[in-house]
Amino acid sequence: MRRVVIDTDAGVDDSIAIAYASRLPDATIELMTTVSGNVPVSEVTQNVLYLKKILRLDVPVFSGADVPKSRKLITATEVHGKDGVGGYRISEGIAFPAWKTGGAATAIVRAAKKYGKRLTIISLGPMTNIARAVSIDQGAIKGIGSIVQMGGVFSGYGNTTAFTEFNIFVDPEAASYVLENGVKVTFVPLDLTETFFLPRNIVTSLLMKTGETSPELVPLFRKALNYYIDYHRHADKLDGCYMHDPIAVAAAIHPEWFRFIGSSVSIETLGRFTAGMTVADLRKKTVRGNSRIAVAFDALTFLDDLASRVFGARIGNSAGRRSCLRQRFTANFRDFLR
Ligand code: BDR
Ligand code: CA
Repeated sequence: MRRVVIDTDAGVDDSIAIAYASRLPDATIELMTTVSGNVPVSEVTQNVLYLKKILRLDVPVFSGADVPKSRKLITATEVHGKDGVGGYRISEGIAFPAWKTGGAATAIVRAAKKYGKRLTIISLGPMTNIARAVSIDQGAIKGIGSIVQMGGVFSGYGNTTAFTEFNIFVDPEAASYVLENGVKVTFVPLDLTETFFLPRNIVTSLLMKTGETSPELVPLFRKALNYYIDYHRHADKLDGCYMHDPIAVAAAIHPEWFRFIGSSVSIETLGRFTAGMTVADLRKKTVRGNSRIAVAFDALTFLDDLASRVFGARIGNSAGRRSCLRQRFTANFRDFLR
C-alpha cells in the first residue's frame, strides 16, 4: 500500500486525478496540499475541499503557496475556468468559509518524516510547495519513496510557450531548486500525456454511466469537462481533452504500466524565450541522473482503469478505445519506443 500526498492546483484534470487516486486500492491519500497554478490557491483550496466532501475523503487539506518562488503568478483560467472547475462552483455558490490558510510545506515535511520510503508525493501543479518543503527539511524529502511530477516537455512542443509545459513554466525556480538540492524527481511530461486524449463523445458516454455509480460527481465533472473540452476545441482544434494529471497518478501507483528512462534534467530559469524549459540530453541514454522521465505507457490499460474507477463505466468498443490514442506528429520519444 502506497502512502500518498497529492499536491495540486486543481484544476479540471487535477479533480479527475484526485477522484482516481482516491479509488485506487493500492494507494491511501494521507494529505492533500494546494498551490497556485491553474487558478489562485484560494480557489484551488475550495475545489479540493469540495472534492473531499463529495468523494467522502477523510484527509487533511492544507493550503500552500499563493505565488511562485520568485515570479508573478500566471494562471490558466482560460483552460480551467475562473474557479478552476469550469464555473461549476461559482454557479452553484459552493464555498467553504472556514479553512485555515497555509501550512502545506510543513505538512508535507511531517508526512515525509512519518512515512519515509513508503511515501509518494504526486505533484500535479507548480513545484512551489515542494521547493518550500525541501528548504525546510531537505533530508526528510530526500528520504521519501518518490516524487512524481506532472510536468515538463522534453522533445516536443510546449502547451504554454513554444518550449514549456504549464506547471514548470509557472515556477521554474521552484523546480530548479528541488533538483539542484539533490532531490530525485520522476517527470510525467507533456510528450507522454498528450499521446492520450478523451474525445468529447467518449466523455459524454462515460458521464452517462457515472450517474448510476457516483451521481454526486456528475454535475461537477460535466460542467468542468465541457469547459475544458471547449477550450481544447478553440485552442487546439481538438474536440476532446487531455488527462495529464490522472496519467501522473497512474505513473505513481502503477509504474508497471510505464516505461521510464533515467536522465539528468535541468530547468531553464534565465532564458527570455525559454524560461521554464526542461532540459535533458536525450542523445545520451543515461541510466543515472537526477530524474526519471516517463517515456511510454500502456494507455489502454490506463483508460480502462480510469473509466471504471472514476466513471463506473467501460468503453467496450475497440474503435472507441483506439480513438483515445494519439500519435503526436512530432513523434516524441520515438527513439525510446522502438
Ligand atoms: C498541467 O497544467 C495544468 O493546466 C494541468 O492541470 C496539468 O497539471 C498540464 O500542462
Ligand atoms: Ca494540474
